[in-house]
Amino acid sequence: MKIFADTANLDELNELLSWGVIDGCTTNPAIVSKEKGIDFETRMKEIIGLVDGPVSIEVTSNDLDEMLKQSREFARWGKNVNVKIPMGITGLKAVNILKKEGISTNVTACMSMKQAVLAAKAGATFVSLFWARIEDMGYNAEQVVTETVDIFDLHDFEAEIILGSFRQVSHINRAMMTGAHVLTIPTKIMMSLPWNPRTESTINEFLESWDTFEKDSKKQ
Ligand code: E4P
Repeated sequence: MKIFADTANLDELNELLSWGVIDGCTTNPAIVSKEKGIDFETRMKEIIGLVDGPVSIEVTSNDLDEMLKQSREFARWGKNVNVKIPMGITGLKAVNILKKEGISTNVTACMSMKQAVLAAKAGATFVSLFWARIEDMGYNAEQVVTETVDIFDLHDFEAEIILGSFRQVSHINRAMMTGAHVLTIPTKIMMSLPWNPRTESTINEFLESWDTFEKDSKKQ
């Protein structure tokens, strides 16, 4: 299982990369728009240089020609660029063309198994299913994802499934069990994953025992 950082913030990315657990990075227009005053191309190139793995950069148009133009431009920015293409008929057409040009893609905003299957068949490198947004519509994200994982396995699809749109730690617990290839996780949630109250109390207990041992040793 791979973990991607779902951020365009360099401080956050550097922090998470230093843990040694990050295999890639995903961005989207909403994530980039949180980075006030940046130059888009410069920031993307900084991220591409930092991350030893795929970096998803999303096109900002639903027009096929413009999607292709942006995708080809992004692909020139680095070998690890992965172009995020919105799910839909135009997106599928774009992926089909980009695949033939050797450009890696990530079909984003998939909410159902059938969308993910179409994206994989069109030639996507990754397909992204959006956990919280699936649940917002009243569907069971775990079921949608598990069925998608099963169908991909059954037919040996090459595309890897990315799960994104996480809002709570409980989403991560459930998502990790689905067998999806990648989880892309926002920094706030990543920061809380190593923490466990019982771990804290255990470490504190051991440190207190060591303090007592050292004090006793000095008395002798
Ligand atoms: C990741 O690739 C997605 O763009 C991201 O996780 C979407 O998250 P959101 O549903 O919180 O916008």
